[in-house]
Amino acid sequence: MCGITGYIGRNEAAEVILEGLHALEYRGYDSAGIAAFENGGISVLKSVGKVAALEEKLAAHGNFAGAHCGIGHTRWATHGAPSDINSHPHGNERIQIVHNGIIENYAPLRAMLIEKGYDFVSETDTEVAAKLIDLRYGESGDPLDALAAAMREIVGSYAIGVLFADYPDKLFAIKKDNPLIVGVGEGENFIASDIAAVLRHTKNYYQLGDLEMAVISASSVQIMDIDKRPLHPELQTATWSIEAAERGGYPHFMIKEINEEPSAVEKTLHPRIAGMLPDFSGEKLSDERLRSAKSVTFVACGTAMHAGLVGKAAIESLCRVPVKVEIASEFRYNNPILTPDDLVIIISQSGETADSLAALRLAKSLGAYTLGIVNVIGSTIAREADNVIYTWAGPEISVASTKAYTVQISLIYLLTIRMALLRGNISEAEARAYTETLYREMPEIIRKTIATEADIKAAALKFADYEDLFFIGRGVDYYLSMEGSLKLKEISYIHSEAYAAGELKHGTISLITEQMPVVALATDEALYEKMISNIREVKARGAKVLLVTREGAKDAAAEAECVLYIPPCDPFFAAIPLATVLQLFAYHVAAARGCDIDKPRNLAKSVTVE
Ligand code: G6P
Repeated sequence: MCGITGYIGRNEAAEVILEGLHALEYRGYDSAGIAAFENGGISVLKSVGKVAALEEKLAAHGNFAGAHCGIGHTRWATHGAPSDINSHPHGNERIQIVHNGIIENYAPLRAMLIEKGYDFVSETDTEVAAKLIDLRYGESGDPLDALAAAMREIVGSYAIGVLFADYPDKLFAIKKDNPLIVGVGEGENFIASDIAAVLRHTKNYYQLGDLEMAVISASSVQIMDIDKRPLHPELQTATWSIEAAERGGYPHFMIKEINEEPSAVEKTLHPRIAGMLPDFSGEKLSDERLRSAKSVTFVACGTAMHAGLVGKAAIESLCRVPVKVEIASEFRYNNPILTPDDLVIIISQSGETADSLAALRLAKSLGAYTLGIVNVIGSTIAREADNVIYTWAGPEISVASTKAYTVQISLIYLLTIRMALLRGNISEAEARAYTETLYREMPEIIRKTIATEADIKAAALKFADYEDLFFIGRGVDYYLSMEGSLKLKEISYIHSEAYAAGELKHGTISLITEQMPVVALATDEALYEKMISNIREVKARGAKVLLVTREGAKDAAAEAECVLYIPPCDPFFAAIPLATVLQLFAYHVAAARGCDIDKPRNLAKSVTVE
């Protein structure tokens, strides 16, 4: 969590750093800060609140005019509440640092530093790291020795940008288990948590590896290992354009990203189809793996975990292979039983989620074959998994995940078809028909769904004033209830729960009153009648019902106050348009309530703490 950036070059450092922090706000936005060389020393400014609050403070201070080297931070609090004092940078006159991650052994380090005479002003673990580096710098007189010593002593995860007052023309960085790139420009260089923060200036970057250090001047970048041995990583080039990372005229990134779903699905599926059959040879995903897997386990967090649930339904029904879906943060506690014949699929938009990464490492250590379904190229999960299939969704900026989910489930459907074909569950003709429907029809179905936005908005307005709400469904509709409910609560702050429709009567129906509206998902024709019974049960207790179903569903309008329809489509892929309906519903409820849609309170997009 937290976003860090740094700049050295001919431009105004504060300007470049603020721009970078805005791009990184998806990683956290409860407070922000900046440090830069000014008047022969390091000046620091911090502010609780979003980057805009720091921007105002900085303007009042003259924007650090003339400073050409500095570091910045946007925070998602772990140790210590959001406050000016707890904001980064931390340090003293000799050194200032910005940090993303967690120093797990901060308590003994703090005690040791207090014994050595250090004072602490904040409650953060970062201040401990800053003062540890300062202590070791005081002893060795060499910044790299100090950073290497700190890396040896710190237990935990970190990406840290450092300024040493004695080196006003240099930026330093170290990293372990948290992402950090070094952006390479002409006569200027950068550090950042991800490339989106520096895309305006350069697309070229180095990925810093674990326990590596970087020394950066305006004209050079040196990367070395913890023993100061030079390393020569490959220079990478980002494929994302700045426009792709910006709003493009939409009021929020979330609605822009929903509108990108049809093209994102096309882009993701296209390179994996040959002769209208799924083809993962580009990924070198061996057919044998898919053919012989004894089980599949999806591991992920949040929305990505909900994509795994749709995957479970698809694979179990088409391939008849047992599938488990594990919440990544719980995975290790379940003492997983895995062998080399088991396939573990880690789904992650960012590729950096700490819980998912820990689960991946555990699965690998148990000998399972690990496959990442990841959006961010070169991210840690993508690099560490035995194999990776990228979702080509482009940058997803809004904290609430939309297009990444749609693309994840589309890709999992394609993988399912391949697996079913290889295992002889379906014929080649059937595989071709499924693939054709998925690839040729589903993007258009999403477009048609988005075209019903006015109806979805009208329904949203009828439910926006409630403080509690239930989503119910059966089968895949239940899994989509979970995702619809998560989407709604994360951006509108309405208390919402997803329930298996048939389970409601076993206790929870006691909560249903006229103050508890229900969104009932009933897109599966085979389960429709049963869902109608459940709708009648909640209506009889006073609940107002929004029914989401297929066009032509029997007596839909008579059964619920409000009805939304997904366009006619193959029922096997109905989760795709249904997801779009639920995303648009959540969006319009949140908009009606005046919420900060792209940056909901307490959340962050990339959660790099466990
Ligand atoms: C955070 C985000 C969610 C996301 C989850 C997993 O909690 O707010 O939207 O689903 O992390 O993120 P990942 O990057 O691993 O998909």
